Amino acid sequence: MAIPTTRTNQNAEILIHEEICSGCGLCVSVCKNFSLEIKNNKAVMSSSSVFGCIGCGHCMAICPTGAIEINGRTLSPKDLFPIPSKEESSNYESLLNLFKRRRSIREFKEKAVEQEIIDKIIEAARYAPMGLPPTDVHIMVLNSKEKSNAFAKDFVDHLDTMKWLTSNWFLTLMRPFWGKSNDQLFREFIKPAINFFKEEMKQNHNYLTYDAPLTIYFYGSPFSDPADPIIAATYAMMAAESLGLGSCMLGTIHPLIQNGKNAKQLREKYGIKYTSREGLVVVFGYPAVKYLKGIQRTFASD
Ligand SMILES: Cc1cc2nc3c(=O)[nH]c(=O)nc-3n(C[C@H](O)[C@H](O)[C@H](O)COP(=O)(O)O)c2cc1C
Repeated sequence: MAIPTTRTNQNAEILIHEEICSGCGLCVSVCKNFSLEIKNNKAVMSSSSVFGCIGCGHCMAICPTGAIEINGRTLSPKDLFPIPSKEESSNYESLLNLFKRRRSIREFKEKAVEQEIIDKIIEAARYAPMGLPPTDVHIMVLNSKEKSNAFAKDFVDHLDTMKWLTSNWFLTLMRPFWGKSNDQLFREFIKPAINFFKEEMKQNHNYLTYDAPLTIYFYGSPFSDPADPIIAATYAMMAAESLGLGSCMLGTIHPLIQNGKNAKQLREKYGIKYTSREGLVVVFGYPAVKYLKGIQRTFASD
C-alpha cells in the first residue's frame, strides 16, 4: 500500500548503511511517518510506519554521516544539495520589502520573457511545499504573447458553450444547494465578468491574460492537495518579482475548465493532463507601469 500520485504509486525504499550510522536518532525524530527507529544504537526500519516511506527525504537530508539513502517516489540521493547558509538567503526585511513592492501587474511591455528567466521562475516554484511528496503539481507554460492570447481567446469561446452556467434558471435551481453567498457571487461577480470578457474579446481586447508575454497554469491532479498548485503559483509570483517582472494571478480560468466535454477538449488542446480541485493561472511580463506607493493590507479577522 502506498499513497498514490500521478507520478508514482509505490513506496520509497529506505537503505541504512549500518556501519556508518552513529545512532544519533535525528532521522527518527524528523520522520513523522514513523518509518524508522533506533535499535541497538542503530537506525533501523520500524514496523509501525503509517503509510510506508513517502519519500520526503527528511531523514536522508538530516543524517550527519550520510548513513541513509532513500530511493523511489522520484527521490534519490542525487537530489541532495548543501543547504544555503542563512547569510546567503534573504532576511525578514528584504523579504518583506519584496512582498510590499509586489502589485498585481496587468500592463506589460512589448518584451518577451527570456527562457532563462522562465527557467528561474519555474525552478523557484519547484521548492514550494506540497501536501505529500512527490508534488503532483503540473504546469502549462505559454511563453509568448501570441500563445497567451490564443489561449484566452479559446477560453472565451469555451465560455460561450457554458451560457447555462449564469442563466437565471440555473442560478435559481442551484441556490438551495449552494446557498446565498454563492448565488450572490455568481449573479454579482461571475455573470458580469464572463459577459465582460466575451464582449471585450470580440473587439480583440484581452482582459483575461492581459496580452502578457508569459502565462503559466499551475494545476494539480485528482490526487493532489488542492492547495499545492496555489502555493507553487505564489512562489513563482514572488520569484518573478525578485527578477524584475510583474505578475497577476487569474482565478477565473481554472474552475471553468474542469467539467464537461468542451472543457476536456480545451484541456487536451493545451496538453493539460488532469482536472484538479484547485489550480491557478498566473501571467507574467515586464511591467509597463510603475507604482509609487504600496498599500497597507489587513486580514478580515484582524
Ligand atoms: C486567487 C486570486 C485570483 C485572482 N484573479 C484575478 C483575475 O481573474 N483577474 C485579475 O485581473 N486579477 C485577479 N487577481 C488579482 C487581484 O485582483 C489582486 O491581487 C488584488 O486586487 C490586490 O491587488 P494587489 O495584488 O496589487 O495587491 C487575483 C488574485 C488572486 C490572489
